[in-house]
Amino acid sequence: MKIEVIKPKQNIAVDLLAVGLWKDWEKTARMISHLVDPKTNQWILNTLKKEKFKAKPGEQKLIPLNSNRSIQNLLIVGLGEVKDCENNLRRMAATTVRSATKIHAKEIAIEVDPILRGKSETPYQLITEGLLLGNYSFDLYKSKDNQTPKTVTRVLLLSQGKGSAKASKEIKTGEVLAEVTNYARDLINIPATDMTPRRMVEEAKKIGQLPRISCRILDQNACRRLGMGSFLAVASGSKQPPYLIHLHYRPSGRPKGRVAIVGKGITFDSGGLSIKPASGMETMKDDMSGAAAVLGLMKAISTLHLPLLEVHGIAAVTENMPSGSADKPGDVATTMIGKTIEILNTDAEGRLTLADALPYALRQKPDLVIDLATLTGAVIVALGDLCAGIMGTNQDLVDRLIASGQKTGEKLWQLPLIEEYKEDIKSSVADLKNVGAKGAAGTITAGLFLREFVDEKIPWAHVDIAGTAWTEKGTALCPRGGTGFMVRTLFHFLTHYHRPKSK
Ligand code: BES
Ligand code: MG
Ligand code: ZN
Repeated sequence: MKIEVIKPKQNIAVDLLAVGLWKDWEKTARMISHLVDPKTNQWILNTLKKEKFKAKPGEQKLIPLNSNRSIQNLLIVGLGEVKDCENNLRRMAATTVRSATKIHAKEIAIEVDPILRGKSETPYQLITEGLLLGNYSFDLYKSKDNQTPKTVTRVLLLSQGKGSAKASKEIKTGEVLAEVTNYARDLINIPATDMTPRRMVEEAKKIGQLPRISCRILDQNACRRLGMGSFLAVASGSKQPPYLIHLHYRPSGRPKGRVAIVGKGITFDSGGLSIKPASGMETMKDDMSGAAAVLGLMKAISTLHLPLLEVHGIAAVTENMPSGSADKPGDVATTMIGKTIEILNTDAEGRLTLADALPYALRQKPDLVIDLATLTGAVIVALGDLCAGIMGTNQDLVDRLIASGQKTGEKLWQLPLIEEYKEDIKSSVADLKNVGAKGAAGTITAGLFLREFVDEKIPWAHVDIAGTAWTEKGTALCPRGGTGFMVRTLFHFLTHYHRPKSK
C-alpha cells in the first residue's frame, strides 16, 4: 500500500474518497467536500441529518456516486470528539481501509485538512498507522482462495501540507510502527508448534543483523551456568530447548540513558503439570506476546534510528509443558540471585521465568527496567481486553508509560503494590512461593513477586498484558488474534525519554 500526500484537486479520480466528521458536524460542517459538486454536497448533508448520523468513532456511511464521476464512492466516517482526536484519527483511517476493501476499492483518498482540528502533532503518522494496522490480516495458514483480500494499493492523503518533509517523515514513522506491530502480531498468531523457542531465536538473530543491533543467545547450558534455576524449571517439561534472547541497540554518539525491556516468552503455556482446562489453553500460543513486542520494538528502534538511548531487549523463551521431566508442584527452584521459590502451581510459570530474566536485565546496568508479560488471568477479570495493568516502583516511570499509552491508544491502568499482600507469597519451605491466596488480587501478588527480583534503586515497571495481547472479537485496528500491544507505546515512551524522577 503506497501512502502519499497530495494537494486536493478538483478532477481527482479515486474509487473511494473518505471524509471524516466530528461529533458536532451539524453545527460546523457547511459542506462535505470541495471535491464534490454543491448539489451533491447539500443532498449528502440532508441525508446524514435525516438518518441522524451521530459521527461516533467508527460510525460510517457509504455513498456510491454516479459512476460517470471521477470519485466513485464517498465514505463518511465518524470522528467522535476532538479531545480524543489522535485515537480517533487512527481509527478513522482503519475504518476507511476496511470499508474500501469491502467494495474492492484500489485507489482511495482521505480528506485530511478538514479533520485536522484538535491538536494532533502527527496526523499523517496516525493516519498511516491506522491504514496499515486496519489492513492487517493473518493469512499465512490459509489457502490462496480463502485469504483476506487486500485491494487497496494506493492512498492519497489530500492536504495542503503536501511536500513538507515533516509529512513524509511522519508517514515513514507510521509505516515502520505499523509494520513492526504487525510483525509482533504474526509472531503471536503463528501456531506454537511452529513458533518454538528456537524459531523466536531465529527471529531475534535476524533483528540482530539490523544496523546498531547485536544479538546474544544463551542456550540452556549458558543459562545453567548463570544459575537460572527458576527459568530452567519451567523449561524442564518441554522437548524444545529454552533460550535467553538478548538484543542490544547502541545509538550513534554518546547515549544519555540505558533502558532494559524484558518480555515474557512462553511460546506455549499448557499450564504444565498444573494443567489448564481445554478452554483455557486455546489461545496460549499468545503467552510470548511480551517477547514478541520486544522483538518488534527492537526492529523499530533500529529502523528509525532511535537517538541517544541504549536499549536492551531481553526474553527468556521456553514452552511450559507437562511431562515426565516437568517441574512438579512442591519443587523448589533457585534463581540466579540465590532467592528460592516454592513452585506450588506450575501454571504460574511466567513469574518463574522473569525471576531470572529480570536479574539478568539488571546486570546490564540500566537506568530503568520495564517488563511486559501475559502474566495473570486476574488482570482480564479486572480490566478486560482493552486495558493492561501496570505496577512499579517509580511513579514517574509509571505515569510516563500511561501517558504514552494515551497517545498510542493503548490503555494502561495502575494497580497498587499493596505491601500487606506480600504475606500471600511467603513460603514455609523457600523464600517465596509462586502463587498467592486463591482468587484474591492475583495481578498484584504477581507484581509483588516480580518486585523481589528487581533492585529498589532502579526504577521498574511491570505491564500485565494478559488481556490486551489478544483480541477475541477483533477491533477496527486489529482482527481476532495477537494485537502487538505495547510496541507503539514503548516506542513513544523511548522517543520522549526522560530519566525518571526519583520517587
Ligand atoms: N499465561 C497465563 C496467564 C494468562 C491467562 C494469559 C489468560 C492470557 C490469558 C499465566 O501463565 C497463568 O497461567 N497464570 C495463572 C496464575 C495462577 C496459577 C496463580 C492464572 O492467571 O490463572
Ligand atoms: Mg501459566
Ligand atoms: Zn503463562
